[in-house]
Amino acid sequence: MSIWHQRWNENRIGFHRSLANPALTEHWPKLELDSSSHVLVPLCGKSLDMHWLAQQGHSVSGIEFVDKAVKEFFDDWAKKPQQTSTKFGEKFTAGNINLYQADFFKVQPDDAPFSAWYDRAALVALPPSLRTQYVEQLRKLTTPDAKGLMVTFDYPKEEMQGPPFALSDEDVEHFFRPFFEIERLQFTDLTEEDGRELSRCSLSVFMLTRR
Ligand SMILES: C[S@@+](CC[C@H](N)C(=O)[O-])C[C@H]1O[C@@H](n2cnc3c(N)ncnc32)[C@H](O)[C@@H]1O
Repeated sequence: MSIWHQRWNENRIGFHRSLANPALTEHWPKLELDSSSHVLVPLCGKSLDMHWLAQQGHSVSGIEFVDKAVKEFFDDWAKKPQQTSTKFGEKFTAGNINLYQADFFKVQPDDAPFSAWYDRAALVALPPSLRTQYVEQLRKLTTPDAKGLMVTFDYPKEEMQGPPFALSDEDVEHFFRPFFEIERLQFTDLTEEDGRELSRCSLSVFMLTRR
């Protein structure tokens, strides 16, 4: 059982928010996407951000491998999703939201790849050894002109064992620059309010555009 299955089973989901993320609602319009853009939400948990994106007119596809998270997303929404099987996992659909219960790294691009994505607590949830693979998979699943919003977290790596794993500006440059234009939209110093006794910690929001 993965640490994530364990966390969901024990309800240790401190990352879950009961409102749409302010970083999303504030910055998403800057991507200037058509509402017809199909949005990928990797490692989505049961995030309410997917409802916000759907309310903007987007079709939204979340990918989450813990069954309890998927079930709770639809239970909390009081919807009974339609279930279909795919090559890489079960797909649950209600309204314009699909949730794939699948390992993100096993999802295969179909004939309608995503033109946008939203990453909040996805890349930083993964061990650093999976970063190259994450970026590769993101590129496989998105169109050549796709845009994404990524919310990250940084702190001195030696001070805490993730998740969340620290993602420095250098890391963002290293993993994304070869394939994406990078624009920082927000930097917030959270050192005072974080409560984890880190000597420094911050949140950043980036707009990434494939090139
Ligand atoms: C830190 S949580 C963030 C959830 C969501 N993005 C949010 O903002 O609430 C990371 C989520 O990714 C899921 N996860 C981790 N590794 C995964 C993988 N390889 N494939 C699919 N889901 C994964 C975990 O179960 C967990 O729900």
